[in-house]
Amino acid sequence: MIRRVGIVGAGIMGSGIAECAAKTGHDVVLRSRHQESADAMVAALERSLAKQVERGKLSEEERAGAISRVSTTCDLEALAGCHLVIESVVEDMATKKALFRDLDRICGDRTLLATNTSTLAVVELAVATRRPERVCGIHFFNPAPVMTLVEIVRPLTAGDETIDAARSFVEALGKTAVEVQDRAGFVVNALLFPYLNNAVRLLESGVATKEDVDLAMKGGCNFPMGPFALLDLVGLDTSVSILEALYEESKDPYFAPRPLLKRMVAARQLGRKSGRGFYDYER
Ligand code: 3HC
Repeated sequence: MIRRVGIVGAGIMGSGIAECAAKTGHDVVLRSRHQESADAMVAALERSLAKQVERGKLSEEERAGAISRVSTTCDLEALAGCHLVIESVVEDMATKKALFRDLDRICGDRTLLATNTSTLAVVELAVATRRPERVCGIHFFNPAPVMTLVEIVRPLTAGDETIDAARSFVEALGKTAVEVQDRAGFVVNALLFPYLNNAVRLLESGVATKEDVDLAMKGGCNFPMGPFALLDLVGLDTSVSILEALYEESKDPYFAPRPLLKRMVAARQLGRKSGRGFYDYER
């Protein structure tokens, strides 16, 4: 049974996953390379939980319990006693492989190692360790505390026990699990990103303004947000890298990121995280 969870990487996804785990009674060890980032993550978590208490979604006791279960560290060795470690560091194969090698050395033999990657081949991370049968993908969606789905990615090397344990963990978080094969984009991103890319194509061709495209998809399909607001939420750099991975695997030009997206990334207009994307945001 997974009770103690290590999370590596102090970005939006890492802190969202930490919130999900701490709220459902798991002990969480957050590891960041820099203490300031780990502290910022805990501060964000505290704000998020406080807001939920204000809105009557969480009791004061639950809030205090969740916070008390979270500890931070800069030291990877502190993850040694975890039952599961989920990494959510930069989408770069060399960085992730090095991390998996280190985790493999540090963690007990029974520890499950998981990646939150949305595009990289999970099997390559598995074979970087001496425990390929105990490595899988556990892919959360943004914002993790709100989104109910988690994709469990089964690389060719994973044992059934690993996939079952990952599923039980996801269900213990109160989320729905779907099992997917180890292919770029899995299910959700393989369907979502061509749609987002096509929205940019529409904008480039002048069919409608971005505001009207967003209004159209909200009102016409009951989507919670339109494609341009969603691109800004996910991050334009992340979106380009997902599209490039889909293109790389399929060689289908349909997946190639649209020029406007690439130019906006070059201009560091990355969406909410940089304060400017298709829309402007207060920082
Ligand atoms: N953390 C915790 N709670 C949050 C939150 C966060 N970051 N963001 C929003 N919430 C909560 C709010 O507190 C609120 O809770 P309440 O209804 O219980 O009071 C609820 O979510 C709704 O939030 P808001 O009222 O502020 O705003 P919206 O109703 O507009 O919802 C949204 C915001 C949840 C982001 C919604 O617009 C949405 O679901 N959008 C679609 C998101 C989506 O498609 N994500 C997938 C992206 S793809 C991906 O992640 C894959 C990756 O590999 C790139």
